[in-house]
Amino acid sequence: MTPQVQRYRPTLDEVSALAKRRGFVFQSSEIYGGAGGVWDYGPLGTELKRNVKQAWWREVVELRDDVVPFDAAILMHPQTWVASGHAATFHDKMVDCKVCKHRFRADHLASLEQCPDCGSKSSFTEPRNFNLMLKTFLGPAEDTASQVWLRPETAQGIFVNFKNVAQAARRKPPFGIAQVGKAFRNEITPGNFTFRTREFEQAELEFFVPPDGTDEQWYRAWVETRMRWYRRYLVEERVRFRELAKEELAHYAKSLTDVEYDFPWGWGELESIANRGAYDLNAHIKESKKDLAFFDEANKAKYVPIVVEASAGVDRTALALLIDAYDKQRYVDQNGKEAERVVLRFHSEIAPVKAAVFALARNKPELVERARTIERALRRVMRTQYDEGNIGQLYRRQDEIGTPWSVTVDYQTLEDGTVTLRDRDTMEQTRVSADQLAAVLVPRLIA
Ligand code: GAP
Repeated sequence: MTPQVQRYRPTLDEVSALAKRRGFVFQSSEIYGGAGGVWDYGPLGTELKRNVKQAWWREVVELRDDVVPFDAAILMHPQTWVASGHAATFHDKMVDCKVCKHRFRADHLASLEQCPDCGSKSSFTEPRNFNLMLKTFLGPAEDTASQVWLRPETAQGIFVNFKNVAQAARRKPPFGIAQVGKAFRNEITPGNFTFRTREFEQAELEFFVPPDGTDEQWYRAWVETRMRWYRRYLVEERVRFRELAKEELAHYAKSLTDVEYDFPWGWGELESIANRGAYDLNAHIKESKKDLAFFDEANKAKYVPIVVEASAGVDRTALALLIDAYDKQRYVDQNGKEAERVVLRFHSEIAPVKAAVFALARNKPELVERARTIERALRRVMRTQYDEGNIGQLYRRQDEIGTPWSVTVDYQTLEDGTVTLRDRDTMEQTRVSADQLAAVLVPRLIA
């Protein structure tokens, strides 16, 4: 079911305030003033991100028979980045304000005439290249020979292992290798909350295609697949698929589509899907002098496969889902009074908690005991939370974290075994047998 557009559009401040208050996202090492461009995920944020990765993994790996999973290390031989071009060209142009000393990405400034921070006129240094890869040392010596980079993308771990995987998994193109993992970029100007950070997670698919003229078909098929995925979870009008013109493409790329979300500050990239030709594998063949070509036994043909890549940002997708889900709704409560609630309308696959179970009164042991028993049973099939006390307040708290279903155990439960099941979106309440809860809710999880 595609989400509806008639939703409140929150500001980034509203979303980041809720994210902190409810434990989705905290600034990294906040007690020391924070680490710039780095964020920590709290209990709910961790679940949210896990669900994003799981939804991606299910679509890209589990539901297919032509994609295998992979998990490369973050640290790689430094020559990897020479071959990929990152060592020489993975940089942004930066300028410094000579007055306030602040540093900016030249292409992020409206003009080079005036500093947006201190207002000084014509105070910028000449633009200089700034490599975005973070450096560290591998082993006990801190010299140039032991310097390595933290990977700026997960993709290269797949490319250098292409032959290992094809042979060990007995795969022949067309087939893909998928992985989810951390990547690091020393962004000059991180910002917009978790949108541009220096440590983030990518979900990448590298799909290897024989050079038989089907590469563009595969590219289009992956754009379609990814389109369906985003439309399942995000309001349709807030996602766009922008195909780049030929002159906008890197020299090796044949086609590229950016998936963009309509963030509070404008359109921002969530994923990039590209037909990269045979560029990546050829670059490693040249640099490593190893034969990474594929030998097709059946046709006795040897070739370097073409790569179709779908590279998504997990943190950006989680942020888009949080913003997209945020709604403010006026309604008439059970006492006939006008009220307002903040509700995160997450898709049930994405919601960090699926069902909350409440005891109507915390001072009635038999209610508490019954509610805890029901919650423990439901916990086996979905993520749950137990709570007790003022039901109105408990509903509002669960609405604010996007829990699709709330279950209240009351005095009637003790008599006939039924509970109140409340739907987050419609606020409708129905009575169902506690024994039937799992049978009623599990099919709704993937609806
Ligand atoms: N292997 C191709 C590649 O890395 P990219 O467009 O540079 O392509 C892919 O990155 C995705 O990774 C982006 O669409 C974005 O979602 C995410 N990403 C890139 N830089 C990021 C950053 N600094 N912070 C958060 N996510 C980032």
